[in-house]
Amino acid sequence: MKEITKICCIGAGYVGGPTMSVIAKQCPNIEVTVVDINQNRIDQWNDENLDNLPIYEPGLKEIVAETRGKNLFFSTEVDKAIDEAQLIFISVNTPTKTYGKGKGQAADLKYIELCARNIARVSKDDKIVVEKSTLPVRTASAIKSILQNTGNGVNFEILSNPEFLAEGTAIDDLLNADRVLIGGDETPSGQEAKDALSAIYLQWLPKDRVLQTNVWSSELSKLVANAFLAQRVSSINSISALCEKTDANISEVSRAIGFDSRIGSKFLNSSVGFGGSCFQKDILNLVYIARSFGLPEVADYWEQVIIMNDYQKKRFAENIITTLYNTVSGKKIVFYGWAFKKDTNDTRESAAIYVADALLDEQAEIVVYDPKVPAERIYADLDYLNTRSPEENRRLLKVVKDPSEAVEDAHAVAVLTEWDEFKTYDWKAIYDKMLKPAFVFDGRRLLDNEKMKTLGFDYYKIGQS
Ligand code: UDX
Ligand code: UDX
Repeated sequence: MKEITKICCIGAGYVGGPTMSVIAKQCPNIEVTVVDINQNRIDQWNDENLDNLPIYEPGLKEIVAETRGKNLFFSTEVDKAIDEAQLIFISVNTPTKTYGKGKGQAADLKYIELCARNIARVSKDDKIVVEKSTLPVRTASAIKSILQNTGNGVNFEILSNPEFLAEGTAIDDLLNADRVLIGGDETPSGQEAKDALSAIYLQWLPKDRVLQTNVWSSELSKLVANAFLAQRVSSINSISALCEKTDANISEVSRAIGFDSRIGSKFLNSSVGFGGSCFQKDILNLVYIARSFGLPEVADYWEQVIIMNDYQKKRFAENIITTLYNTVSGKKIVFYGWAFKKDTNDTRESAAIYVADALLDEQAEIVVYDPKVPAERIYADLDYLNTRSPEENRRLLKVVKDPSEAVEDAHAVAVLTEWDEFKTYDWKAIYDKMLKPAFVFDGRRLLDNEKMKTLGFDYYKIGQS
């Protein structure tokens, strides 16, 4: 196998954009072209003003500034980029199906299939095709069958190279990856392809962090890694409900169990519920494949992680309603945070959406402040649920740019995202502006219990009575 000098990535999203930027930075000898069918998104990636990049990730704009126009390019010329590349990453979205068989659970592979057909149509020489999108087990064999039946004599090697980066820390996760997983056929040409892709990562990662497996193990490992992480969050959240009924404190419990080196301390922060584009989707996928292989016990076991997460979001909303004297109708409730976690502008599956929806059902008047999420995104998230008309959503929920203006005459503040800036606010001034009693519902355990109570707040922290 020749050394790889030209790669292309289809899909300039949260995964494709940062991953390719880091490859371009770490491999100056490789020309990286990121293509997307969305012209607007590509224009944003090419914007002179780096604050207008479509994705916010700490450290990303510095890397784009360094590499863009040198060995990193963003374009909508998909066919040209495919034709010129030796190695093609597929990094398009794979949403949960909203129609037909597997609706609400299975991943919708139509974009992946379109990409494969496009690669088959355009390619004139041998290529390595890498699945970067999270996919159900066995997708590689589907891609292979599409590519191998083109009849134009081109050979394709299909690899699975799942992404483990977390949003908000994507650049660091890529630069210092715990591991890179590369799955491929156990044939001589499969081995060559795995080695060619490994060589890219080995330009900045030590050898023992680049793992090679067969394709199915690689595909399944991605789903299982996310399922295990989400399971930890649901496990600790289930205990947070118990803590609220007793005098136990969830932070003390997390800390106590996390000190056991067999358990470990990560992913034990109780919260209003996990969000993000991956956890729920990947578990639903796992549940779907387990069920379709006739393993209902396995499917039910993992489904419980999602059920617990839905319960946590519902519980948080219900606590706000009961605490505010069983009615929130016409009451102003301020949301601090809308993103699914701090340091990202991504809102996919954010707990805030579902908490807002439950409160809007009770006719609450919600005011949202998030440092990175624009108003259009917030309204789009609510409209997508189809619970009420877009006009109704805009009438009941307002989005503001000033966190202190938001709290004027508010009945309650709910903390939905753990943005650092919320900790530094002048909570005394916030208290003065709010109606009394002034309630704060902390879904992220961000603020200090004693301090909030001393200031006069009725302060509720998830996981504490
Ligand atoms: C997505 C999946 O959600 C994730 O599971 C997977 O691991 C990687 O791909 P993400 O990058 O966050 O993650 O998705 P998104 O930000 O929606 O970006 C996908 C991009 O692909 C979009 O910009 C979309 O326009 C583009 N796309 C989609 C194409 O260029 N061609 C297509 O046919 C379909
Ligand atoms: C996750 C995986 O971590 C990553 O490896 C994979 O590639 C994509 O999915 P991401 O969704 O970006 O990454 O964020 P992550 O940090 O895992 O958080 C997911 C959700 O769980 C967030 O809503 C977060 O707030 C929540 N969470 C996380 C908790 O509620 N408690 C915790 O202790 C950790």
